[in-house]
Amino acid sequence: MIDLHTHILPGMDDGAKSWEDALEMAQTAAETGTKVLAATCHGNYPGWDGKGWPQRYRERLEKFREMLRKEEIPLQVVEGMEIFASDGVVEGLKRGNLLTINRTDYVLVEFALDVRAYDVYRILNRLLEAGYRPILAHPERYLAAQRTPEHLYEWDGMGAVIQVNKGSVLGGFGEGALRTADYILRRRLACVAASDAHSPIRRTTSMEEFGRVLARRYGEVCPWLLLEENPRRILEGKNVIRKEKNCISY
Ligand SMILES: [Fe+2]
Repeated sequence: MIDLHTHILPGMDDGAKSWEDALEMAQTAAETGTKVLAATCHGNYPGWDGKGWPQRYRERLEKFREMLRKEEIPLQVVEGMEIFASDGVVEGLKRGNLLTINRTDYVLVEFALDVRAYDVYRILNRLLEAGYRPILAHPERYLAAQRTPEHLYEWDGMGAVIQVNKGSVLGGFGEGALRTADYILRRRLACVAASDAHSPIRRTTSMEEFGRVLARRYGEVCPWLLLEENPRRILEGKNVIRKEKNCISY
């Protein structure tokens, strides 16, 4: 499996608190079937100073890769960032202050949970017009999507890649997120699923139960497409499979 959304690098955001945490999270990921994982630290929050951030991030990433080699944990970690949507997002990407996924044109972008749907359209459109491919992080958690899940059809139709969170599917983010994730998955609107792991204890990198639940509720092809095939395509900068547009049945 490929987990495209994790907060595994310590000292960069509210994810792993130490290198020990990070190694434990890596061990859990590897043991539960993840082969590749993107270290998508939060970036671009209001007041965030991006100066020197990519360099610091890349130094930490390289150090972590060395630790994994030394500890013989079979896990590949690739570059990424969870970008908080704002008006300056395209400029930040062009300047190199904000990072894409594995240096492709795919961008993992999140919004405030109480974002207005209009602002999601606006920022997605801005990214698409600039030639980026936005991966919309956990829209099932946004109140606007919980109230009006039909927005998901539009965001998918615009070209955004919909990513659902493990915690939403397993019920950890409440009834609204669970119901909306189910809406998304039943209608085959999601292209990617990920752990959005923050720690070795709560919101972990374990994919065991997640894969099983996806298969049981939505069919065997669901975890394959959302946790393997589409994430692999994203890492390679290729188009994802969208059910409606490609007539793949699963
Ligand atoms: Fe996240």
